[in-house]
Amino acid sequence: MTSSPGTPEIVILTGAGISRESGLHTFRDADGIWAKVRIEDVATPEAFARDPARVHAFYNARRRQLHDPGIQPNAAHLALARLEQARPPGAVLVITQNVDDLHERAGTRSLLHMHGELRRVRCEHCGARHLWTDDLATTTPCPACARTGGMRPDIVWFGEMPVGLEQAYAALARCRLFVSIGTSGAVYPAANFVAEAREGGAHTLELNLEPSAQASHFHEHRHGPAATIVPAWVEQILASPSQNR
Ligand code: APR
Repeated sequence: MTSSPGTPEIVILTGAGISRESGLHTFRDADGIWAKVRIEDVATPEAFARDPARVHAFYNARRRQLHDPGIQPNAAHLALARLEQARPPGAVLVITQNVDDLHERAGTRSLLHMHGELRRVRCEHCGARHLWTDDLATTTPCPACARTGGMRPDIVWFGEMPVGLEQAYAALARCRLFVSIGTSGAVYPAANFVAEAREGGAHTLELNLEPSAQASHFHEHRHGPAATIVPAWVEQILASPSQNR
């Protein structure tokens, strides 16, 4: 399977597990975020309409973590950036479900945040998007239209449409290798990406701490902490580029 120039030959899906060794919690592990707070209270449009201050507090706390000097890209993020730099431009695409900025800070450039980003906010009044590092409140005026009450995290909540699906499906249909890293495979449409990639003839590899809900759909599995197994996989790929894996 060869991809035409510019279309990714390797598509990598990442989830919260890749950021766990950087100190960010996952969602569905025993110590995960959804063990402490309910999705219905902080991660749906209805929650924001009902209690915007509570939703802001939830995302403000997570946004503040991005400035914690103890939270840095780990060896897995850095290995993916190395892989991208070793390949022609556009040959590697990272599609992340994560809203942290650790892939960017590790140096990854070809990156799609399908669930949005903590460091972006948007105004529901005028639609303007802004890079944002501070706390957000119901009283925060939009820098574009100056109105208050409409600023929200630029995060895809449950029930909302993920970002960039057209680009993602086009890449999945034409890649020769699909790798899933640190995701439980519990949330669609990302959970279906492996099936889409297989449909297009790609080899599929799961790199995860343990078998995910989609494990049976992958040709190959390597289990262990991402900061260990991802660099090992990347070094193997860089040592023999012709290999699928
Ligand atoms: N290394 C590799 N994998 C790990 C590690 C680690 N150190 N620690 C945990 N994992 C794995 C877990 O075994 C699990 O399979 O990472 C996965 C994390 O799964 P979730 O917590 O469900 O996170 P994720 O798959 O990213 O969730 C998807 O659900 O709540 C929504 O929008 C949210 O983007 C999120 C989406």
